[in-house]
Amino acid sequence: MKTKLFVDKNLSIAPISKYLFGSFIEHLGRAVYTGIFEPGHPLADKNGFRQDVIDLIKELNVPIVRYPGGNFLSGYNWEDGIGPKEERPTRLDFAWQTLEDNSFGTDEFMRWCKKTSIEPMMAVNLGTGTPKEAGNLVEYCNFPRGTYYSDLRIKNGQVEPYNIKYWCLGNEMDGPWQICHLSAEDYAKKALETAKIMRWVDPTIKLIACGSSSAEIETYPEWDRVVLETLYEQVDYISMHRYYWYQDTIENFFGSYKDMDDFIHTIKSTADYVKAKKRSSKVMKISFDEWNVWYLDEWKPAGWKKAPHILEDQYSLKDALVFAGMLNTLVNNADRVEIAALAQLVNVIAPIFTKENGNVFKQTIFYPFFAVSNYGRGTALRAIKTGPQFTSKYGEVHYVSEAVTVNEEKREVALFLVNYASELMEVDLELRSFGNIKAFDYQFIKHADLEIKNTFDAENVKFEKGVVPIVDKNETTLRLEPLTYNVYRFKY
Ligand code: AHR
Repeated sequence: MKTKLFVDKNLSIAPISKYLFGSFIEHLGRAVYTGIFEPGHPLADKNGFRQDVIDLIKELNVPIVRYPGGNFLSGYNWEDGIGPKEERPTRLDFAWQTLEDNSFGTDEFMRWCKKTSIEPMMAVNLGTGTPKEAGNLVEYCNFPRGTYYSDLRIKNGQVEPYNIKYWCLGNEMDGPWQICHLSAEDYAKKALETAKIMRWVDPTIKLIACGSSSAEIETYPEWDRVVLETLYEQVDYISMHRYYWYQDTIENFFGSYKDMDDFIHTIKSTADYVKAKKRSSKVMKISFDEWNVWYLDEWKPAGWKKAPHILEDQYSLKDALVFAGMLNTLVNNADRVEIAALAQLVNVIAPIFTKENGNVFKQTIFYPFFAVSNYGRGTALRAIKTGPQFTSKYGEVHYVSEAVTVNEEKREVALFLVNYASELMEVDLELRSFGNIKAFDYQFIKHADLEIKNTFDAENVKFEKGVVPIVDKNETTLRLEPLTYNVYRFKY
């Protein structure tokens, strides 16, 4: 099979926001407890933060982390998680039906962010929470001093305000599973009043409204229209969430990257419709703040325990290929998607997996994220592609998913290619307007068994080094093995 890719330095989509490589930590299962936070672990620091986990997060080059949820958020009282630990209450978390002892809260998260040099993306509870409670949290975090909540922060040991910039107005409020789920109209009204109070406390913050939690929910995309019509001038981003998992046919699973692209286009169009209706000059950006492969049909409550083993999906090579296609879709929409959060970061549907009091391993999905987050910074380029396609429930889908980035400072071009075909794919590549360009790195992921996973004992799926292709007069032919992920890097 043959695909042709034409890449021109001048065909740019947009500069890639660093926040496209964000992630997410929720109070869910072992994401926090025995994930990032495990006092007493041999590699934990004095705050209980696991250094082995931090090292892997640094490898992933994650700039921003959304916290504390997720569904958990909609029942969370942030005041339970501050102050002396012995006075913090243990609560029932209705979202995941577990126990939350609140030994990790806002100040611990902010300390962890400081240690990891990660920016926080904080979320306020619009389920059981009130607009005033959301404003109080902004006051606690961002107000300098001399008021009840800012002085409480100082009393709790943090003198300087945290100055948190990004704030989510609730989580998936369109979902009937959400604690105190709302209709679009009710959510929009509550979010508007909350946004007003939060901005009165700190006018510099950026706000993210809840958009549709999937493209399959009945209220999509009407939800987004209603929410944006009320909140257009108050918020900076509309959120999107999307998970895929293998359900019926491999074609439908491999077609996920195209469906995600269609989903983004619909939300863009919906936002632009509202923009036109309001005669506004503002372009609404997207925060794709939950995305991943997740076998969500497999989740079951584990009883009222603290940090149970739930949502601990173990990812195969097949999952990693779908994941890589989704990541390409995000890069190809860099003109509108400014923030994205891989859901999640540790243990819970995550690239990093820990053992309590033990070691850690990289899941298969770790590798595509590592590659794009480290080599895909700069500007996204639109490749012109012709080639064979397969049929899925999302329509015709190219066997090759591609993302192309150029880093002008380093004078590097990177190509991230998934071959979803079960046979060799030759890619005729033309690289225009780069002058003299040469390949210097080729890495790929492959395995004879598509179901293979990584474990604590065996890293079955990881990057292997390949022979770099010779570029002659800006042209070359790449050979993608069947069912592989491929990363090529060039210098010009
Ligand atoms: O990431 C897991 C869950 O998926 C989140 O809590 C929720 O927002 C979404 O449904």
